[in-house]
Amino acid sequence: MDILKPRGTRDFLPEELNRRKYVENTLRKVFETYGYSEIKTPIFEELSLFTMKSGEGIKEQIYHFQDKGGRDLALRPELTAPVARVYLNELQKTSKPLKMYYSGSCFRYERPQAGRYRQFWQFGCELIGGKPPEAEAEIITMAAHCLEELGLNDYEFHIGNLGIIRGILNDARIIGEEQEQIMSTIDKGDVSGLKTLMKSLNIPEAVRSVLISLIGIKGHKEVINEVESIVGSCKEAFKALENLEELLKVLDAFEFFNYIVNLGIARGLDYYSGMVFEIYVHGLGAQKQISGGGTYNLIEAFGGEEVESTGFAFGFDRLMKALEKQNIEFPSLSRTDVFVAPLSSDMREKAFKIAQNLRRNHISADVDLARRKLKKTLSYADNLGSKYVILVGKRDFKQGMITLKDMKSGNQEPVDINDIDKKLAGLISTKR
Ligand code: HAM
Repeated sequence: MDILKPRGTRDFLPEELNRRKYVENTLRKVFETYGYSEIKTPIFEELSLFTMKSGEGIKEQIYHFQDKGGRDLALRPELTAPVARVYLNELQKTSKPLKMYYSGSCFRYERPQAGRYRQFWQFGCELIGGKPPEAEAEIITMAAHCLEELGLNDYEFHIGNLGIIRGILNDARIIGEEQEQIMSTIDKGDVSGLKTLMKSLNIPEAVRSVLISLIGIKGHKEVINEVESIVGSCKEAFKALENLEELLKVLDAFEFFNYIVNLGIARGLDYYSGMVFEIYVHGLGAQKQISGGGTYNLIEAFGGEEVESTGFAFGFDRLMKALEKQNIEFPSLSRTDVFVAPLSSDMREKAFKIAQNLRRNHISADVDLARRKLKKTLSYADNLGSKYVILVGKRDFKQGMITLKDMKSGNQEPVDINDIDKKLAGLISTKR
């Protein structure tokens, strides 16, 4: 019987994992440049952490179970709620704004397809206690900075504000479950479904046509005037529009211009309260959204004092796909810098000693563990991507010498055993 991996999960072999590590490290560097510190939270949480704001319906989409003590737990579907919990548990008194980033796996019980998994990774952040337009603008700029640093350029950065649509709905007294149904249909981009739904909910024709016009608005800064004329006298929507306008001004100061204003962004999670954004890479097909985020109100919903919060997360797996699709080159990571090869069996123990000495001096080294003949050892070292091979021969060794072979040029030179670590350290640092 074959034992297979669970549906919607993947194995990552070393080569792919090396590429993921490179991307992860690049993101880490950018986030840290903006003053974020990494945090880690548990993979599973109390189920109520995710149902409290989103309702029992969310249980359909998450892995939840009872443990042996009868506690209702869930594998985290995302990390915003866990970070809000950490804030409430431990960080309320810390000076703000608080900038935290995370990298970790999430679990959603979804129908697996290309770019949509049951276990996937998010790399994201939460900024707690920053004031809206500037905190939002900095986060948006940082998300774009990450893509720039990775060399990804074929993407669309869409920015909206949920408050505009919610304002129109609140004004028309379409609230609670009905409002959430409408938001979720907008999130799916299903315009004809939205029309049918609004009719079935007996929403007045005037409100229906305002909503349909609003969600179709996409364009540069100039579309704000168009929105203004549609929103008319609705105060809440107007306020949200003003917030969006202010944000776009601050984005100018952060020198980020490469965005599209899109009022059709509704976001799938229901804690967002104002600015929202999504990043799309069209080459990825249906699962084109590589990142999403916005300003939200979760801490208050968990019983804490209201504090402005903004965040976003890259869907790490989709980001990797996007980079691979755009043929972004990743620096090749050889496993070790040097391979130590004994020329005869009585030199094997000397080879082990040499390898250990190099490792203690922070030089990554492999040593022959398969008792191969030299030719095969050299071709194995070449396959591993070792830059150098140390040949340990009996005659040389007696005189305190070994031979250093540069695998790229094929050049060989005798080196004093006592100098090999310094010699290699110099060679490796100049090649990096
Ligand atoms: P989200 O849009 O649900 O937002 O997820 C963030 C990203 O995770 C998506 O843009 C997508 O790229 C990726 N993603 C979601 N589901 C899957 C899946 N099944 N397979 C592969 N990738 C997936 C959040 O989770 C929010 N917590 C983001 C946030 C942080 N908002 C504020 N702070």
